[in-house]
Amino acid sequence: MKHWFPNENDFEEAVEALRRGQLMGWPTETVYGLAGNALDADAVASIFEAKGRPTFDPLIVHAADTAAAFALADSVPPEARDLAERFWPGPLTLVLPRRPDLPDLLSAGLNTLAVRVPSHPVAREVLVRSGLPLAAPSANRFGRISPTCAEHVLEEMRGQPRVAGVMDAGPCALGVESTVVGFPGRGRVVVYRTGGLPVEKLRGAVPALEVVDVRRAEDDPELAVRGEQSPGMLARHYAPSTPLRLLEAGETPAVSVGRRGWLCFSERPEVEGPVEVLSKQGDLAEAATRLFACLRRLDAAGVDEIIAWKVPNQGLGRAINDRLSRAAF
Ligand code: TXA
Ligand code: MG
Repeated sequence: MKHWFPNENDFEEAVEALRRGQLMGWPTETVYGLAGNALDADAVASIFEAKGRPTFDPLIVHAADTAAAFALADSVPPEARDLAERFWPGPLTLVLPRRPDLPDLLSAGLNTLAVRVPSHPVAREVLVRSGLPLAAPSANRFGRISPTCAEHVLEEMRGQPRVAGVMDAGPCALGVESTVVGFPGRGRVVVYRTGGLPVEKLRGAVPALEVVDVRRAEDDPELAVRGEQSPGMLARHYAPSTPLRLLEAGETPAVSVGRRGWLCFSERPEVEGPVEVLSKQGDLAEAATRLFACLRRLDAAGVDEIIAWKVPNQGLGRAINDRLSRAAF
């Protein structure tokens, strides 16, 4: 696997690899993706293979601009146009009715397709130079922690023959994945996955915005019947290999004999063992940026258990708490 940097030569090599049907580790403002040509069914299949991802979990297709993104959809609800105008390029994914001629595997047999226009300049450069829509899930092995720097991708994708290289643009600015929004009909606008675009901002545009609770999604007949339930709601996800226990802010951990590592929001508690503080200043944006890297370090620390505390449940804090509760499931 090559380690590329954003220069003329490496951009060309990366784009050539994509044209040949190979995959690349690709920086975005949220997390690093594993990108392949969305129009090439074989390349799409190899994304699932490289990730070890079950084929019922659909991908996000990335496009250089809104027109190119909407060209991938069969139709675009007015609510989606409005959100795209406000928030693209950026950490927002829209689930739209799918165009039937695109590879089936992209949307895992659902009648919808997830699309997004990323804002990262290096991501955009690859999209523009290749002229291709790029299918890109996060570049981690299935169920593992999403990568937020090129080294994580090298670690996760080592030995995968179809991954030609990773383009290194440093750590991701946001650190959590995009917010996924769907339109299941009758004007409903539903958040399937909280993420880098805070719910409060979306609500400014769509006051009636619904946020689906992972555990109740199966009971919503409209979501299930229309195949719009986001498999990203898979309850356990983003998990370190070490068991993780999630505590309420201010909760005191029970005594234990095992060796423990600690993930705290802003204050370092009186504890023994490896500690990671997400943001000394208590800044949720900084906490989001550091979340996955801190989890990876604790996972590598050889402890029996990771104890994590919830962060304030507002803004990016919702996405952080969502990822932590899935890691803890
Ligand atoms: O920030 C991100 O979104 C990153 C970067 C690389 O763009 N990508 C990412 O992809 O997180 P992935 O594959 O790890 O997550 C895709 C999410 C999942 O929750 C998936 O279930 C949901 O999008 N999704 C994809 N297609 C869908 C569809 N047709 N209906 C509902 N949910 C869908
Ligand atoms: Mg993922």
